[in-house]
Amino acid sequence: MLVVSLGGSPSAKSRSNGLLEYARRRLELRGVEVISYQVRDFHAEDLLHANFASLQVRQFIEQVSRADGLLVATPVYKASFSGALKTLLDLLPERALQHKVALPIASGGTPAHMLAVDYALKPVLAALKAQEVLQGVFADDSQIQYLEECVRLVPDLEQRLNESLDQLLAALARRPKPIDPQLLNDRLVNARWSI
Ligand SMILES: Cc1cc2nc3c(=O)[nH]c(=O)nc-3n(C[C@H](O)[C@H](O)[C@H](O)COP(=O)(O)O)c2cc1C
Repeated sequence: MLVVSLGGSPSAKSRSNGLLEYARRRLELRGVEVISYQVRDFHAEDLLHANFASLQVRQFIEQVSRADGLLVATPVYKASFSGALKTLLDLLPERALQHKVALPIASGGTPAHMLAVDYALKPVLAALKAQEVLQGVFADDSQIQYLEECVRLVPDLEQRLNESLDQLLAALARRPKPIDPQLLNDRLVNARWSI
């Protein structure tokens, strides 16, 4: 099982990325392979000029196409998700999330903007044809504390995130595997018909 994790914060020290790191460790303990990306690691020129030919972007697209699921986290900026994240999502092919499960995560300064995940990020994941977009997790800044290497989450947030990750694992497990067209073709060609 492969999950791509995508952090949408331009900040080096990022709360939303702390949530992603927590999620990555927990998924890896359950045997899921997680490949982590952050928008801030991409060349700004490629994102701002929509450089579809960028090697970095093409490798990202390739990993997303191989993945079973996408974990995406963003800070809330101006009551929406970060513009930096949008510049990268815009470079994905039209059906990039077809047959995949997506779990959106956001951190924001105020719970007043907790619905940003629902009205801003989820429609984009749906437009990319995600098979299932899970409920999502919102954390306000007071619930995330920085430590040396990682973040500490208040128990309520930790429990909500754990529950969402369990839902992600369940969704990944029940996800029907798309049939490889070549395999299907071989089976049809080699099938023995009897009347
Ligand atoms: C430019 C900017 C705009 C922001 N706008 C909002 C906002 O509209 N609503 C909100 O709840 N928080 C807002 N915040 C606060 C961030 O969403 C919050 O601190 C978040 O946890 C930062 O995540 P990060 O550390 O992963 O970048 C804003 C922060 C910045 C820097």
